[in-house]
Amino acid sequence: MPDQEFGETEKSWRSLLDVSIAKSRKIRGSNYVQIATVDSNGEPHCRTVVFRGFLNNIPTDHTLCNVCGDAASDNKDNSDGKSCIMKMCTDVRSKKVEENANNPLSEMVWWFPKTSEQYRIRGPLIMIGEDSDDKILSIARKELWGNLSDPARESFLDPITPGEPFSKDNNKEADDVAIPRGGRDEEGKVVAPPRNFLLMLLDPRRVDYLRLTGAQYRQIDVRDDNSKSWSLVRVNP
Ligand SMILES: Cc1cc2nc3c(=O)[nH]c(=O)nc-3n(C[C@H](O)[C@H](O)[C@H](O)COP(=O)(O)O)c2cc1C
Repeated sequence: MPDQEFGETEKSWRSLLDVSIAKSRKIRGSNYVQIATVDSNGEPHCRTVVFRGFLNNIPTDHTLCNVCGDAASDNKDNSDGKSCIMKMCTDVRSKKVEENANNPLSEMVWWFPKTSEQYRIRGPLIMIGEDSDDKILSIARKELWGNLSDPARESFLDPITPGEPFSKDNNKEADDVAIPRGGRDEEGKVVAPPRNFLLMLLDPRRVDYLRLTGAQYRQIDVRDDNSKSWSLVRVNP
């Protein structure tokens, strides 16, 4: 039964997150999240990336259909739910991609300083590149590329390999390569996404929510792998 005194238990993590995002929309950096992955030695690696919205309009028979409704404990099929798949992007040459190939599990931490809320969102990370044979995800990749800011697009077109030792010569060579300004052609049209540009999706399976303001509150939402439905439990902070 939902806790009547604290109506929060009727709200899934997904609904709580919508409210957190809305309250912090005007704060610079409020869409920066931290994503941790594990390498083949079991060592953790964490870094900041930009959260770029939820992946919407996924058919119900798609493997990435992960929706979560309100009053999750009473709504077993979550049929009225919102998409939970979280969009980000990265470079195929970055370490996280290698780590992801070895172990797709990851955890995102999202801290909202204004409302003192922390979300820890765990699940597999899925990388979508040029070779993906999934039409829906390939379209989503291209859409995300088109929606990037000009400077962000330019950074993916830079021939310098991220993470490699710095070399003046390599950088000079790279300076001589003409990068399409803003990732656009002479007519101002966005160029095609380069091979190294990946759509990075987090498919959440477990969310640990903690709020520190007022009476502290914590809940854990879990997605059942078989029924694909979400349920939640309130726990001590
Ligand atoms: C504010 C901020 C935003 C960032 N956004 C992204 C991003 O959206 N995608 C990304 O791959 N790296 C982003 N980075 C860089 C990463 O934190 C990291 O340095 C890079 O991805 C290489 O990480 P890796 O070698 O562990 O894969 C961002 C860094 C900062 C400080």
